[in-house]
Amino acid sequence: MCVAVMNYSISERAASLSPSLTLAIDAKAKQMKAEGQDVVGFGAGEPDFDTPDHIKMAAIKALADGFTKYTPSSGIPELRQAIADKFKRENGLTYKPNQIIVSCGGKHSCYNVVIATCQPGDEVIIPAPYWLSYPEMVKLAGAKPVIVQTTDQTEFKVTPDQLRAAITPRTRLLILNSPSNPTGSVYTPDEVKALGDLCVEKGVLIMSDEIYEHLLYDGAVHKSVASFSPAHQEHTIVVHGFAKAWSMTGWRLGFLAAPEPIAKAIDAVQSHSTSNPTSFAQRGAVAALTGPLDHLSRWLAEYSKRRTYAWQKLNSIPGISCVNAKGAFYLFPNISKLGLKSSEFCAKLLEQQKVAAVPGIAFGADEYLRLSYATSLANIQKGLDRLEQFARTLSQ
Ligand SMILES: Cc1ncc(COP(=O)(O)O)c(C=O)c1O
Repeated sequence: MCVAVMNYSISERAASLSPSLTLAIDAKAKQMKAEGQDVVGFGAGEPDFDTPDHIKMAAIKALADGFTKYTPSSGIPELRQAIADKFKRENGLTYKPNQIIVSCGGKHSCYNVVIATCQPGDEVIIPAPYWLSYPEMVKLAGAKPVIVQTTDQTEFKVTPDQLRAAITPRTRLLILNSPSNPTGSVYTPDEVKALGDLCVEKGVLIMSDEIYEHLLYDGAVHKSVASFSPAHQEHTIVVHGFAKAWSMTGWRLGFLAAPEPIAKAIDAVQSHSTSNPTSFAQRGAVAALTGPLDHLSRWLAEYSKRRTYAWQKLNSIPGISCVNAKGAFYLFPNISKLGLKSSEFCAKLLEQQKVAAVPGIAFGADEYLRLSYATSLANIQKGLDRLEQFARTLSQ
């Protein structure tokens, strides 16, 4: 059945979607800035550092060499090989290049997984707070998102008992995201293994979104759920991308590693939808994976300084509490004591104090805000001082 909107019929699936609130807030903050207003933006989901030069140079060379034509739909062989090598080197996982699919961003990789594995009648378990696109992708596949709520009491981590209670005969997929957007929490290897064991036992596939793998603090360790045993690997599709650790958000390049039949199905889906990701961008990605990672330690030191400042400041504001993040570049403070739901809180914060934050409701958690610290320390100081003033007007 279609949904009538003015004189047009819109498919029920498209009409059921909510547009991305994070992109909307970011766009609004940028527009206010362009109008000359002094806005502090905590909305960005992208690093504030530039793509390292050696990556740019590889793409520029590819363009100069005329590498501007269609490539194989799932990526150039040298990039698929470089990705397979990355999984071997960093995660101890063995994949053949035909199990690797390169797509137009990590978001596209996630979408391909959901479309290729889920259908009407299927259930997909998504722990909340979640990255806001997951439930919408599941709806686009005609499947049903099953949300399992977590809170700051458990550092936003789903427990095996919660997962067991949510699994039904219709469960097709669990979506795991560690390090997490929006909370910054990181599952320990034991916690990941316990969830993976349960999925193997119950025959549930896992989409493990590991795009923030390299952004870890305070000694936190990332272990891919696929890496515990061959059975875990056979139940897992690992999603990744170049946006976060190499600051290549605008390049639109993501990748995944999957069991062969799933990779083959995704290859077919992609060949009839987007075809290949941009040819010369793929050459840049080869340089990203085969070149030095020196930039990361500098970025991590800077992120961690900002994270510590922001976390301490947030916890000093009456009515706000915040667990510290172990990964990614977000904090997810609890604002429930201040008496406003997150949308109203963020709307007023932007209007009265010119601070852009993303309401927790976008991530399935209405008592929180998401603040990205992928912005300068000076901005963070200014923005959090304003947030404090705003919170004080509410708690009086
Ligand atoms: C958890 C998570 N997965 C996937 C993505 C997709 O990133 P991109 O499509 O820019 O590669 C993002 C981006 O914000 C994310 O936060």
